[in-house]
Amino acid sequence: MNRLDGKVALISGAARGIGAETALMMVRAGAKVAIGDVLDERGRQTVRALEAEGGSAIYTHLDVTSPDDWAAAVAAAVSAFGGLDILVNNAGVFLGRGIEDATMADWQRLCGVNLTGVFLGTKLAMPALRDRGRGSPNGSAIVNLASIAGLVGSQIDPLYSMTKGGVTTFTKSTALEFARKGYRIRVNSIHPGVIETDMGAQTFVSRAQTLGTNDVDAARRQSLTAHPIGRLGTATDIANGIVFLASDDAGFMTGSGLVVDGGYTAQ
Ligand SMILES: NC(=O)c1ccc[n+]([C@@H]2O[C@H](COP(=O)([O-])OP(=O)(O)OC[C@H]3O[C@@H](n4cnc5c(N)ncnc54)[C@H](O)[C@@H]3O)[C@@H](O)[C@H]2O)c1
Repeated sequence: MNRLDGKVALISGAARGIGAETALMMVRAGAKVAIGDVLDERGRQTVRALEAEGGSAIYTHLDVTSPDDWAAAVAAAVSAFGGLDILVNNAGVFLGRGIEDATMADWQRLCGVNLTGVFLGTKLAMPALRDRGRGSPNGSAIVNLASIAGLVGSQIDPLYSMTKGGVTTFTKSTALEFARKGYRIRVNSIHPGVIETDMGAQTFVSRAQTLGTNDVDAARRQSLTAHPIGRLGTATDIANGIVFLASDDAGFMTGSGLVVDGGYTAQ
């Protein structure tokens, strides 16, 4: 189940966190993986870890706000592995400031990574994905990292929430456009709850500040209680969902959002 034998994936922001775990799970499922990030040394370390698992992986410097970087990353994946079947638009940044404190520079940074990055990745990887989709029974796949904050309002980060809401509906729109054009590229989003990564830790600091304290542990406990399942998420929880959406097991899914949030948005 959820096998990716013979598939090639490009994952943005995969030096660490959910992206790095997704790369590992994809390699274990049989895929070849190109990972891009702005953290070059960490990205190369991640590739070495994937190779130690017996996987085929390359690192490419990829600032998702740069069209030239995207073109080079897609070309590197195609040149190394002969094509591209899967794009994971994973790179993202969190701000953790309310509307009164957020600045124009904050907004432009969030838009650049969370929105422009997804637009450029989709646009510049599309021709290679379309080419491979022609010969594949269930087509190629794009998985976009949205968030629960793209489904319901965030209590601590309205600008982040706005960008992830954009990713949610962009996913549906591109799924419809590619289907209408007969491109055989499925496009779906995934909506994590709070996940224990560097970004997750950043949300606890912001939540503490919002509560007017320095007690990050208390903020973490408060965040945990919002997840009815009784724990926070792990990068593996999300990587499992991404691998599923990218695999032929999700062959009848396009324009969908997979919520992996321990019940956060069920309330
Ligand atoms: N952690 C959570 O609680 C959570 C919840 C919901 C959604 N998400 C989303 O999941 C995705 C991954 O988050 P994570 O928790 O692994 O975060 P993380 O901060 O651990 O990792 C994000 C990665 O993106 C990279 N990145 C940042 N700016 C970049 C740029 N301009 N170009 C390329 N790479 C860049 C970072 O260097 C880092 O490696 C993000 O889109 C995030 O918004 C995370």
